[in-house]
Amino acid sequence: MSDRYAVMGNPIHHSKSPQIHSEFAKQTQQDLIYSAMLVPIDSFESVAKDFFQNNGKGLNITVPFKEQAFQMADELTLRAQTAQAVNTLMLQADGSVLGDNTDGAGLVGDLITNHQVVLKDKRILVIGAGGAVRGILQPFLNEQPSSITVVNRTVEKAKVLASSFSEFGNISACEFNQLDEAFDVIINGTSASLSGELPPLPDCVVGTHTAVYDMMYGKEPTTFLKWAQNLGASKTLDGLGMLVGQAAVSFMLWRKQQPDSQKVLLDMRKQLQE
Ligand code: ATR
Repeated sequence: MSDRYAVMGNPIHHSKSPQIHSEFAKQTQQDLIYSAMLVPIDSFESVAKDFFQNNGKGLNITVPFKEQAFQMADELTLRAQTAQAVNTLMLQADGSVLGDNTDGAGLVGDLITNHQVVLKDKRILVIGAGGAVRGILQPFLNEQPSSITVVNRTVEKAKVLASSFSEFGNISACEFNQLDEAFDVIINGTSASLSGELPPLPDCVVGTHTAVYDMMYGKEPTTFLKWAQNLGASKTLDGLGMLVGQAAVSFMLWRKQQPDSQKVLLDMRKQLQE
């Protein structure tokens, strides 16, 4: 019988995970079935436990269940502990369930491997202080940038986040209007792009050497990426690579096989533009 995997969320119809993982399985000749499961808002824990009791091997978890998955896991990786959210669950040999968070590794891998963006010794600006940003900070600090600056509309949240990650590296928070020079790398982790809005950043943060990344993606470049392009940023990148990258890290955890994420990313990009 094929091994069973799934993504659980609510809503779930938009999820590209079944397509990505089926492609990875084909590439690496893995005998598995990966489906999308719509889970009622108040039943995540029972549905997930039931899945693992019925021979399910692994789950991806998306909105709004990442915090509940974090609570439910028997064991957590360091990056899941620091993210306080889990996007990947894996059944272990002893029957316990491991919780991981592959979002940050997916983003870091997309930047370094797919786009040759250097993070070591670089100055990084991260915009936003919600769950998406919490999930990426520890993997970013692991790459030993010279500094990470977190800015957020609600500055208090950025300050709390920076202080809770300070043990992992040089990270601080400030207000938008305190930013007065260009960064090497800028990551937009806010949901502003969903409504076509732009965080209130001064233009001086983007230089001609700056790589700018929006965790959101769409058919067209986001408002944020258009803004950075107009300012002459060296690279403007959207979050499609992060989506495929986090899936590749989950797949590797489950199957111990490295899929060719570049190929899947190219296919997904083509489909997005059709
Ligand atoms: P997620 O889990 O996707 O990170 P979230 O926890 O709701 O979602 O966080 C959304 C982030 O986007 C927050 O940092 C939010 O800023 P506040 O903390 O001040 O709410 C930020 N955000 C959302 N819309 C924004 C906008 N129009 N301009 C700037 N920041 C925005």
